[in-house]
Amino acid sequence: MATSRTWLGSPDRYARLRKIRTLDPEKNSREITQLFYEDFMTISIFSAIGGFLLGDAAPSMSRILSSTGELEKRVAKRFVDTALLGRTVLQHGVKSAGEGRDAARRVNAMHRSYDINPDDFVAFGTGQVIFAIEFAERLGWRDVTDIEREALRVYYTHETRIFGGRVPLPPTLREMYAFWEKYLDENLAFEPQNLRMANLLLDFIKTLFPKFLHPLVTPIVLAQMDHRIVKACGLELPGAITREVSTALIRLLSKLRDPVYDNAPDGFDALIKQVYPDGFAIEGLGTRSSVKPEEDGFFSDI
Ligand code: HEM
Repeated sequence: MATSRTWLGSPDRYARLRKIRTLDPEKNSREITQLFYEDFMTISIFSAIGGFLLGDAAPSMSRILSSTGELEKRVAKRFVDTALLGRTVLQHGVKSAGEGRDAARRVNAMHRSYDINPDDFVAFGTGQVIFAIEFAERLGWRDVTDIEREALRVYYTHETRIFGGRVPLPPTLREMYAFWEKYLDENLAFEPQNLRMANLLLDFIKTLFPKFLHPLVTPIVLAQMDHRIVKACGLELPGAITREVSTALIRLLSKLRDPVYDNAPDGFDALIKQVYPDGFAIEGLGTRSSVKPEEDGFFSDI
């Protein structure tokens, strides 16, 4: 019943925000980022989709992603593994040995198997920050605070490094936005594999929603994405009316569902069960890599 719902054990829907206000964005970036996603759970899926579409839209990334065949053959597993590995690092951190560090080492080893352009790493990490902030600002149930913006920047700076990025993310949000605009203007371009992978991703995303909504899912999702990303994927940006309807619907959904209460049923668990009916272990996630991860020396920050 609604009356028995709690947030961090309190009946106050703003409990996570109150907690965030007591934390330091530099020292507690991981905890704040976790609380932020719990508060903006409904729309966090758009950030994940944005990340995948970004990878499809930049040929320097889409060529590598298409060469592995993974996103074309096993898109559901890639989506779930990405979310699980990212979530494990976010939940446990990497300061000490354990699940979080194991997850980070898996991702680091996978990335070391490929010749990835350092700027693409910066773009991907920066994208995670900007998608999270912008979608929450535009579609979320409450305002985003400066503490959260800064914590996201700090957290993803560390995450990008431990996942194998060699160039630090821009050191301020203002510089991140400047880098992002320039990257999207200069690095996105259509190539046939972009469209193939984007279509497979969008077909998969549909399956996360009830069947009667399937025809609406792609327009609703694309309406929220940057027009340069949509265009470079070979897709069409929905018109102004669809964009307005999409925004209104997601805002409504976010108002109805967020902030999710303590122990609320998690749609992600059902998806994990679909892909891993017998459960999963961190070592089994991701693609096999013949390359070892970097030495653990730098795993100290989050
Ligand atoms: C901060 C930046 C990045 C993050 C957070 C990130 C995240 C991840 C995660 C969590 C996985 C493991 C999940 C899975 O098994 O699919 C993964 C795998 C992978 N990532 Fe990244 N990644 C980043 C940057 C990049 C970039 C720039 C590229 C360039 C193409 C890339 C290419 C790959 C490839 C090829 C795999 C292996 C899976 C496959 O073969 O498709 N990643 N990444």
